Amino acid sequence: RPFLSPVPPLPALHSSLGFSIIAFLAALYLVPALGGIMVKANLKGKDLLKTYDTPIPESLGLVCASIYILLLILFIPFPFSGWYNDHAGNQPTTKAAEGISVPEFPHHLLSLYLSSLLSLLMATMLGFLDDIFDIRWRHKLPIPIIASIPLLMVYYAEQGNTHVVVPLPFRPLLRRTLVNLGPLYYLYMSLLSTFSTNSINILAGINGSEVSQALIIALSVILNDLLYLPWPVDFRIPLHLLGSQKEVEVGGVWAAGMAYGSRQLVERHLFSLYFMLPLVGVCLGFMYHNWYPARVFPGDTLCYVTGMAFAVVGIQAHFSKTLLLFFLPQIFNFVLSCPQLFGLVPCPRHRVPRFDRNANLLHPSKALFERSPSHLSTLVLRGLSLLGLTELTTHPSTGQVLECTNLTILNVFLVRLGPMNEKRLVQVLMGTQVAGSVTAFVVRYGLAGLVYDG
Ligand code: UD1
Ligand code: MG
Repeated sequence: RPFLSPVPPLPALHSSLGFSIIAFLAALYLVPALGGIMVKANLKGKDLLKTYDTPIPESLGLVCASIYILLLILFIPFPFSGWYNDHAGNQPTTKAAEGISVPEFPHHLLSLYLSSLLSLLMATMLGFLDDIFDIRWRHKLPIPIIASIPLLMVYYAEQGNTHVVVPLPFRPLLRRTLVNLGPLYYLYMSLLSTFSTNSINILAGINGSEVSQALIIALSVILNDLLYLPWPVDFRIPLHLLGSQKEVEVGGVWAAGMAYGSRQLVERHLFSLYFMLPLVGVCLGFMYHNWYPARVFPGDTLCYVTGMAFAVVGIQAHFSKTLLLFFLPQIFNFVLSCPQLFGLVPCPRHRVPRFDRNANLLHPSKALFERSPSHLSTLVLRGLSLLGLTELTTHPSTGQVLECTNLTILNVFLVRLGPMNEKRLVQVLMGTQVAGSVTAFVVRYGLAGLVYDG
């Protein structure tokens, strides 16, 4: 007789929803309540885009991270309780007496869970240290990579897939459908953690920007996870409407339009939901206080913890490539920022838009060249300017670049759409994030059929 139900116990999902509501209420209450303590500890910042100078409590991401991680720890017993009970509620001892074999405890799931918590704790520590000491870039980058090692070890222990499917146009060239990237795949996953943490942190500086990115990415991940749960209706029907006729097999896992996934697949996406649902709760509660005009700031802690949470679920639930698709605005912002991050173009301490006090409008902010730019810098900037991504101020006679607008997506919005107020700008950012997620779903489930066959 079937010993275990065909899917892991779904009631844990109900508990997770309950925990998310608690996370929301806790953030809603504790963030303003603890703001004063942060100011006392000198964790405060000036809102750069306001007329007033009142210090705003900074680093409230620490409160969010604490709520999030503590609730995740409290939640641990839920997915595992009832593991030894069968449908009739028999205990292991009864079963042993009856000569029925008792299933082994899912240690792999527990190690998945614990290693994820370890990475989240390291991200919190790094974020908070960054808030206090303003860590340098070259020190900041490797730490999330080290923090991802426990995740990679679990991935290895599970014999996680390191193959990538070769897109149809490249198959004649490589003469195969799958390529094993081996250690390179691990390198890619560890870089994912440093990308997801830092990319949110550099798309920041206007009220609500950091937390709204995290919220929309978390909701997109949740939507993606829900596609893999054993629903009574077959999701293949709406996905067919999206144009996906074929299911795509990625490394032995049926991916697109999976209504009745393998047990393992369902388990992984449930795991992802357990981590994403309370994150949404915390973000919503925090956003209420961080929305324009902000009463609190997230600090780097929130950016690091949310970024790490995404890396954790992407790696542990084996959908890191789909996850990257939800980061389209961050990828764009990172690539655009590279000339400033890597020293081709001067990078001021703050690249936030310039605030026009009288009109209460934001304009693109500028980076000033104190020395004449190199040929490479000029070439890159002229290219970006041709694409409409930056505006250059040049010397009237020599044509030498004197200034350029800072290379961030927020400045691009202001260059392309004209000056606007802070609230409007964060709404444009959120709209772009949502549009990015819609594109991600179309690419993942709609266009995948064109690039990969079944
Ligand atoms: C990153 C960006 C930097 C941007 C900053 C804003 C890069 C390389 N770094 O630096 O360009 O200016 O984030 O967060 O792209 N602040 C506001 N309003 C907000 C949020 C923050 O005015 O809604 C200001 C406050 O003064 C706050 C400070 O930004 O104290 C926090 O900056 P911090 O997170 O320390 O900057 P970085 O992450 O180092
Ligand atoms: Mg920051």
